[in-house]
Amino acid sequence: MDPVRNPFAPGAGQRPPELAGRDRELTAFEVVLERVARGRPERSLVLTGLRGVGKTVLLGELRSMAMRRGWGAGKVEARPDAGLRRPLSAALHRAVRDLALKHRAPDRVEEVLGVLKAFALRANPDGAKLRDRWQPGIDVPATSGRADSGDIEIDLVELFTEVADLATDVGTGVALLVDEMQDLEPEDVSALCAACHELSQSGAPLVVVGAGLPHLPAVLSASKSYSERLFRYLRIDRLERDEADRAVIAPIGREDAEITSEALDMLFETSGGYPYFVQAYGKAIWDAASLSPIGVQDVRVAAPEAEAELAVGFFGSRYERATPSEREYLQAMAELSKGRDEPVGTARIAEELGRKPSSLSPARDSLLKKGLVYSGERGHIAFTVPHFGRFLLGRDG
Ligand SMILES: Nc1ncnc2c1ncn2[C@@H]1O[C@H](COP(=O)(O)OP(=O)(O)O)[C@@H](O)[C@H]1O
Ligand SMILES: [Mg+2]
Repeated sequence: MDPVRNPFAPGAGQRPPELAGRDRELTAFEVVLERVARGRPERSLVLTGLRGVGKTVLLGELRSMAMRRGWGAGKVEARPDAGLRRPLSAALHRAVRDLALKHRAPDRVEEVLGVLKAFALRANPDGAKLRDRWQPGIDVPATSGRADSGDIEIDLVELFTEVADLATDVGTGVALLVDEMQDLEPEDVSALCAACHELSQSGAPLVVVGAGLPHLPAVLSASKSYSERLFRYLRIDRLERDEADRAVIAPIGREDAEITSEALDMLFETSGGYPYFVQAYGKAIWDAASLSPIGVQDVRVAAPEAEAELAVGFFGSRYERATPSEREYLQAMAELSKGRDEPVGTARIAEELGRKPSSLSPARDSLLKKGLVYSGERGHIAFTVPHFGRFLLGRDG
C-alpha cells in the first residue's frame, strides 16, 4: 500500500502512531504531577526495561503531560563518561524558559538564569584558559555564591531550589527527565538522589523522572540506600496481546485499512509484543501489502524485509560496538541461553569458552559499560537487547 501513508515508526525514540499499553504509567504520573503541585510528598518515577520497549518515547510523553499543565520541563540523556553539569544546565534552561512565559517578574527569572549560568560554568575544569572555556548559551551574567561551589551535590540542591521557587511563583512545577540514567557517573547519581531527597522533604515542586536499563534500581540503591523510598520503579515491558494488536489495528484503521486476525496472530508470534518489533514488522507489512485487509501472506513476504532492517538498525548497530573478544563473549551467552535471552551464569560462560573467569572480566565489564548486557542478579548476565541471542545464533548460519 502507499508507502507515503505508512503510519509505523520504527526507530529509537520515534513517537509511535499509537502509544499502546502504557495507561498505568500515564496515570501514575498524573498523580505525581497533581500531588507535587499541591506540595504533597510523593515518590518520583523511574522507568526500567530492555532496549526498544519504549522508555524514551514514554519519557517524552510524560514531558508533554507536564508541559500541558504549565510545568517547566527539560530532558537530559546521560552518556557514559560525561558529567551531568552541561546537559543538565541545558535541560533546566529549557524548563526556566517555559516558566518565564508566565512569570510576572522578569528580574526574578534573570536571577535564576544567573545562578544556572554559574552552575553551568563550573563544568569547565579549574584553571582552563579563557579561550578553551565552554560557554553555556545563557544570555545573562553569571551570579556568584549559589550553585557554583564545585561540589555537585550542594550545587544541585541550590539550583533545584531556585528553579522550583520560580515554578512555585507561577503555581506549577518543574519536571526533569533523565534518559539512560544508568550511564550517569557515580558522583552524579549520588548527587541527584540527594538533591531529590532534599527537595521532596521541603515540598518543592520539582520531580526527576528517570529511565534506564533493568539494573538501574540496583545502580541507584548502591548509590543511596534511601533511593527505594525516593522512586517508584515501573518496569516497562513487551506489550500484552491485546495491546500489541491495538498498536497495529489503530494506525492502520486511521488510514482506512484493515488487517485479518490470522495476520495479527502471526505478527504477535514474530514480534513477541516488543514495541520496536511491532513497529518494524508493522512498517514492512504495510509496504508489502497491495490491498486491504492485510493478510497472512503479506506478513510472510514482509518478515524477511523487517528482519533485514532490524539486523542492521537494531541489532547490527549494537553488535558493531563490540570488540572481537566481546563478540566471543556475546556468542557464548547466546549459545548457553539457546537464543532465548535468559540470564546466563558468568561461570558457565568461562567454562564454555574454556577460559578462567578472571580473564573474561575485562570483556564483560566493557560490555556492561557499553550497555549491551546487564547483570540483574549476582553472577548472572543477560542481553539488554531483546532477541539478541536469536540474532547472534542466526548469524552463524
Ligand atoms: N507503547 C508503544 N506502543 C507501540 N509502539 C511503541 C510503544 N512504545 C514505543 N514504541 C515504539 O518502539 C520503538 C522503541 O521506542 P524507544 O522509546 O526508543 O525504546 P527504548 O527507549 O526503551 O529503547 C519506537 O519505534 C517506538 O515508536
Ligand atoms: Mg531509549
